[in-house]
Amino acid sequence: EDGTPEETPDVWWRERREALLRLADDESPRYVYDPEVVTARSDEVQGLGPIDQSFYAVKANPHPEVLRLLERRGLGFECVSPGELDRVFEACPGLDPARVLFQPNFAAPAEYADAFERGVHVTVDNVQPLAEHPDVFAGEELFVRVDPGQGEGHHRKVRTAGAQSKFGVVPDDLGRLRAAVDQAGATVVGLHAHVGSGITDESTWAGLVDLLASLAAEFPAVRALNVGGGLGVPNASGGRPLDLDALDAALGKAAARHPQYDLWMEPGRYLVAEAGVLLARVTQTKTKDAAAYVGLDTGMNSLLRPALYGAHHEIVNLSRLDEPPAMTADVVGPVCETGDVLGHDRRLPPTEPGDTLLVATTGAYGASMSNRYNLREPASEVMLAPEPA
Ligand code: LLP
Repeated sequence: EDGTPEETPDVWWRERREALLRLADDESPRYVYDPEVVTARSDEVQGLGPIDQSFYAVKANPHPEVLRLLERRGLGFECVSPGELDRVFEACPGLDPARVLFQPNFAAPAEYADAFERGVHVTVDNVQPLAEHPDVFAGEELFVRVDPGQGEGHHRKVRTAGAQSKFGVVPDDLGRLRAAVDQAGATVVGLHAHVGSGITDESTWAGLVDLLASLAAEFPAVRALNVGGGLGVPNASGGRPLDLDALDAALGKAAARHPQYDLWMEPGRYLVAEAGVLLARVTQTKTKDAAAYVGLDTGMNSLLRPALYGAHHEIVNLSRLDEPPAMTADVVGPVCETGDVLGHDRRLPPTEPGDTLLVATTGAYGASMSNRYNLREPASEVMLAPEPA
């Protein structure tokens, strides 16, 4: 149901196989991140000329070393909880709060108050907190998250706009929101939209620039338009890779139509997905009727995406990388759920207990969504040292 694995020949982890096998021998399961991939992706994102500032969506991977690396490359941070705010300021001492966004949803009033205290940019996406707690917002500058009406992304559960989604204020409600903002004595200085995750249509974000710019006419103090994240990555989301040159060109035209605004973006996955792999050890193999299983020392407790979205992640037997496929099996974890499957019908070389398997493209929404279900600790995380030149 999640398809046959496609070989991706030029990935960093093929070249670093020996180092990865040693790391897995020391400890399993574990996530391993390659800082050079994060650096390369951040340079691509920072190369988007029409974008004035990009903010890394911390939820994708809040590892402190990832945050420090991206801060050095000039990115800001998009946070959705007090915990994420704590994390970025701890990881990056002296970080300018103007480089940080706080965009929670259904947050308690105290969370907004705390964010204003920290001096970060705050985004609201509901009239109610403004109407009911005007004191919290008095005198503050705000971003407003708009629901453009149409979500996009790799799975319905990650589409964050439209009738099925809890996010944002629909354009028809912006008048009511403006009244509540005025009443509270606050000022709207930016508009925001984020329509989903794993998007590979390069025209999406330019369309959002146009939409937000048209809505901004009603908000004279607006100076920035934040068109969100959602930049897709091949393998993780299926289909063709996002063409960053096409994205740059489309954004450039949109920016030229609305030169009075700063343009912001907030990619998460694109920066880190390909930088991460999950290493796990084979514990048992099993055949049952026509089915074959390869069981690992971790599963949906470390990587939830296949269970939650049917997401496809390439899986290889790192111990036998050069051996041809000889079996087809479901790769499963030890969690007491039938859905604890990391890959269906995967072609693998003859695989035995003790082998190390690698689950690719797991640097985004892997460790950050891991959990202790069944009281099984999820995979630990380690960042590789940069490769000697
Ligand atoms: N901005 C906002 C307001 C968001 O809600 C998100 C992601 C992002 C930016 C970053 O999106 P990205 O560039 O990473 O696609 N757990 C799912 C993805 C959920 C994304 C939630 N919001 C997955 O594993 O596919």
